[in-house]
Amino acid sequence: MKIAVLPGDGIGPEIVAEAVKVLQRLEADGLRLTLEWGAVGGNAYASHGSPLPEATLKLAKAADAVLFGAVGDPRFDTLDRHLRPEQAILGLRKNLGLFANLRPALLYAELASASSLKPEIVAGLDILIVRELTGDIYFGQPRGRRKSPDGAFQGADEAFDTMRYSRPEIERIAEVAFQAARARKAAGHPGKVTSVDKANVLETFQFWKDVVTEVHAQYPDVQLEHMYVDNAAMQLVREPKKFDVIVTGNMFGDILSDEAAMLTGSIGMLPSASLNAERRGLYEPSHGSAPDIAGKGVANPLATILSAAMMLRYSLGEPEAATRIERAVQTVLRQGMRTADIAEPGTRTVGTAAMGDAVVAALG
Ligand code: IPM
Ligand code: MG
Repeated sequence: MKIAVLPGDGIGPEIVAEAVKVLQRLEADGLRLTLEWGAVGGNAYASHGSPLPEATLKLAKAADAVLFGAVGDPRFDTLDRHLRPEQAILGLRKNLGLFANLRPALLYAELASASSLKPEIVAGLDILIVRELTGDIYFGQPRGRRKSPDGAFQGADEAFDTMRYSRPEIERIAEVAFQAARARKAAGHPGKVTSVDKANVLETFQFWKDVVTEVHAQYPDVQLEHMYVDNAAMQLVREPKKFDVIVTGNMFGDILSDEAAMLTGSIGMLPSASLNAERRGLYEPSHGSAPDIAGKGVANPLATILSAAMMLRYSLGEPEAATRIERAVQTVLRQGMRTADIAEPGTRTVGTAAMGDAVVAALG
């Protein structure tokens, strides 16, 4: 099984190195993996003149799965849109057809008091955000802009991005959500999908709501509710455990998944899977490149390590190895080990590499 490893910018290389340690440990136990590295993001722009060089795209397309760190670097914020580091991840999603982004928000019992919400509000939280990833205003047309020659908007008259969704795009993401809710129901969850929209204002999301309702006819065993995005943002901090599976568009999903991440104590804990129709996928932490702490060895590698576990489960057919990693993460948390983002009185604060080593040791 071939894995394309794309560390990217900021803390990306540090956290990916720890996930790779974990994978290499599983290799030593007999798992067959071939890891191949590629340049991506601001680094790739600096070395190759493009945030997503041809060679990297080729590598990603040929691989069984992609393990991705993060992209984004303020040094490149003034570049034209198509050269910015963020275009690397957007280009990978589009080119590999990775339309289904699964962002589970799961609270480890050990971190109940690390959340900014009261422990009783979040204890036992286990929800899944299904974010559509290759449509919406992210990939709108035309990207009409009038810029001055230096790339800035000074003196420009307007800027716009269009929001659109096609029926098949909504149908396939709704199906992923209903199937996920069905599978979760079998495992004891309520079996409910909350479709988040802004149908009261936007035509795109009235259409979204109608199509999701149509698809629901095939899933009578799953409950469907609709919620406006502003209300959903509020309910997520008011009573997050009322949710089971949330399905929403690219933009709302981006925002709500950051919010949901914080419920679990730290965005440094949340993995994600981005899957295409063949279930090939890209796996990345839900957080970004965190340039403010890059290179300091303090970033939390657990979201990336847990993303590697999702990769083993969803794309590589190795659910047992995935569970082994998830248990090891739980073990180190129980041992009281914490990176700075989740540190609390009475716990032991460790750096990125020490956390990775601890997970490897806990694999047993
Ligand atoms: C995410 C990130 C990306 C997004 C950025 C880096 C383009 O915020 O994966 O959530 O907006 O999708
Ligand atoms: Mg985001």
